[in-house]
Amino acid sequence: MTDPVGATPLDPDEQDGLKIKSIETRAELDRYEQANIQDGLRWLKRQKTPEVLSEAFMRRFHQQLFGQVWAWAGTFRQTEKNIGIDPLGISVELRNLIDDTRYWVEHATYPPTEIALRFHHRLVEIHLFPNGNGRHARLMTDALCRVCLGAAPIDWLQGADNLESQSEHRSAYIAALRAADRGDYRDLLALFD
Ligand SMILES: Nc1ncnc2c1ncn2[C@@H]1O[C@H](COP(=O)(O)OP(=O)(O)O)[C@@H](O)[C@H]1O
Ligand SMILES: [Mg+2]
Repeated sequence: MTDPVGATPLDPDEQDGLKIKSIETRAELDRYEQANIQDGLRWLKRQKTPEVLSEAFMRRFHQQLFGQVWAWAGTFRQTEKNIGIDPLGISVELRNLIDDTRYWVEHATYPPTEIALRFHHRLVEIHLFPNGNGRHARLMTDALCRVCLGAAPIDWLQGADNLESQSEHRSAYIAALRAADRGDYRDLLALFD
């Protein structure tokens, strides 16, 4: 299975965590994951007052989005990836992100969309899980918009079919995240504001 640019390849032991042994192609995997994500979104709808800005919620939500497909869903990554910080730093960096985001929300440090996009970037930059970080972090950001910011969700697709397969829009999204890695949020804001 070949991954699109900006995706996280899985280690062999992570691939062993595939719960549905009949899956052989990327397309089949995508379909199972997509179905699981729909169930995860139904789970989210049933949560009346989710504590979005907490480690417990972020893990639980990943588990709900990917737990039918991957045994390690909801469990923090223990291996180094091409994206993301040292796995040993994940809990601390997530704690910092949660504290920073609470502060931004409370003090309206930035406009709501900018808070959402800064949160999104930092979450994928930490890269909590072996896989599914992009999808989880986009849906987490939508939950942040609704529950904490009282704002409309980000229009992630901007008219594209999806953000998972290679496209001009995905390339622009990944390039904007890379600029944000260097502290420059302008492209990310221009793309989604
Ligand atoms: N340079 C980068 N800095 C921060 N995040 C990035 C960077 N490159 C890619 N990403 C994020 O990582 C995601 C890919 O990680 P992955 O765990 O494979 O998620 P998914 O399986 O949901 O696509 C991309 O969708 C994007 O959100
Ligand atoms: Mg991936």
